Amino acid sequence: MKLLDGKTLFANIKGEIKTEVSQIIDRNERPPHLAAVLVGDDPASLSYVASKEKACRQVGITSSLYHYPENFTENELLQVIDFLNHDQDIDGFIVQLPLPPQIDPNKIILSISPDKDVDGFHPYNLGRMMMGQPNFIPATPLGIMQMLERHQIETKGKHCVVLGRSMIVGTPVSILLSRKAKPGNATVTLCHSYTQNLKEICLTADILIIAIGKPRFITADMVKEGSVVIDVGIHRIPDNTKEKGYMIVGDVDFEEVSKKAEWITPVPGGVGNMTIAGLLMNTLNAWKQRNIRQNIN
Ligand code: GUN
Repeated sequence: MKLLDGKTLFANIKGEIKTEVSQIIDRNERPPHLAAVLVGDDPASLSYVASKEKACRQVGITSSLYHYPENFTENELLQVIDFLNHDQDIDGFIVQLPLPPQIDPNKIILSISPDKDVDGFHPYNLGRMMMGQPNFIPATPLGIMQMLERHQIETKGKHCVVLGRSMIVGTPVSILLSRKAKPGNATVTLCHSYTQNLKEICLTADILIIAIGKPRFITADMVKEGSVVIDVGIHRIPDNTKEKGYMIVGDVDFEEVSKKAEWITPVPGGVGNMTIAGLLMNTLNAWKQRNIRQNIN
């Protein structure tokens, strides 16, 4: 078993971005600026946003947080987005999901300017990705593709089984892996809650990507010997033996599955880090595209 070490890769990617941002600052240009919008105080969202802000600081990207109470209305949020769409000092922004029930996430995503949509969730950006002309690729799928590419894991002709069809992870990653590109050219099976014979399908996977949000769902009997296992899940489960009272696990039973897999992501220290890496990459790209547009005009 070899670890798909997201922590080291994240450090490498941060180093590359930091070098580029330092060059921007040395030229007396404004560094890239990422804004995050958070509505409410969901603990997981607070923790994600804090990690994103920390990573921005580490590489010299300016970050700002727009934090609003749980009862913020859809119209108020649309006004904030309109402001961010027009602010010349902001290259990209994200609206942290999930949103409270009074706010329709689809309406919010549609209102984000595609040029600033560093989450890559706007239909314009998802459409471009499907056409093989990506603008911004959603951060977690981008991070997973980076992980495969930088570990030189062959995807061409391989059978990739993706568990979970969310717009954030499962659906985009299945499109990216089946594209005529490198990494890509895989045969992809996308499984979901209505899939029959799930275990049999998983056993045929050369590359298994799990994003279903169920702690330790994938057990060793579901995994082919010598396969690549990428675990997108992250859960806190009670553990009295730990000082914090909990431990972090993924969608995969790491201890058992790691005995069969050739490559496997740890949790924590795997895909979670790569999501932030993907977001930083998109933010730097947003800055570059903005500069190109400004130099043309
Ligand atoms: N919630 C969980 N993952 C994400 C993500 O990648 N972006 C946003 N905006 N919200 C999320």
